[in-house]
Amino acid sequence: MTYEHLLIEIQDQIGWIKINRPKKLNALNQAVLQELHIVFMALEKDNSVRIIVLTGAGEKAFVAGADIAEFADFNEQQGATLAQKGQESVFDFIAHFSKPVIAAVNGFALGGGLELALACHVRIASTNTRMGLPETSLGVIPGYGGTQRLPQIIGRGRATEMILTARMLNAEEALQVGLVSKVVELDQLLSTAASLAQLMMNNSSHAMHRALQSIEAGYASENGYRAEINHFGACFGHAEFAEGTQAFLNKRKAKF
Ligand code: COA
Repeated sequence: MTYEHLLIEIQDQIGWIKINRPKKLNALNQAVLQELHIVFMALEKDNSVRIIVLTGAGEKAFVAGADIAEFADFNEQQGATLAQKGQESVFDFIAHFSKPVIAAVNGFALGGGLELALACHVRIASTNTRMGLPETSLGVIPGYGGTQRLPQIIGRGRATEMILTARMLNAEEALQVGLVSKVVELDQLLSTAASLAQLMMNNSSHAMHRALQSIEAGYASENGYRAEINHFGACFGHAEFAEGTQAFLNKRKAKF
């Protein structure tokens, strides 16, 4: 299988997935999400792979969010479907993945990009990383599990503040609040991810799988994710969503 938007490499039992749309800061369009679903399905079955590392191409971004140009004209139903399909095929799929998935965050991780990192089991970051959920600045809310997973990882108060202010955290702040577990220079990021994967591979794959399922079970709240899909969809029927997305696409500040 060849991928248009992903670079895949399997080495020493590690499956490396690099999202490769650097000119658009690796923004997640439908084609990227579909390829992510396909590659994760394939790696799940591939016995030569024990750990996955997910990262972004280029030196600027992990993923700068869902592709705003692609959904700016969506209606409420299309908005809800976008969130549901993405959650089911990629974000929940990764969160429930049977092998450890490490996010090596190499720059901007915004909106859907941060949500992608949140769905991974472990996050490490380079010093140039900026993380945030800027959706409310576009007149929408996080729709790929961000309203659920961010509070689970950094606590409700901090997560609510991040979502309501749309503010980005730098790498040091992300480390302080436990959003990432390690920060290293960009040129050390992938070797650090490989070392972390090696440490994990000293342990039983079966036991790691069972541990991941147990950890996830304690946080599973399907109603919260369903509510997020419904509220996300509702944003698409509001004039402030049109204003927020058009302002971004026309490179001006939104007036709410
Ligand atoms: N969706 C679609 N396109 C995006 C994108 C996104 N989420 N993020 C970046 N891009 C595109 C830009 O439109 C631009 O395309 P162009 O060169 O064809 O104009 C290109 O990627 C480079 O981005 P640019 O904004 O020029 O880079 P910058 O260094 O000035 O700013 C960011 C970087 C990350 C601050 C800025 O791109 C941004 O705010 N992105 C959107 C983040 C966001 O709101 N994400 C949540 C979406 S729900």
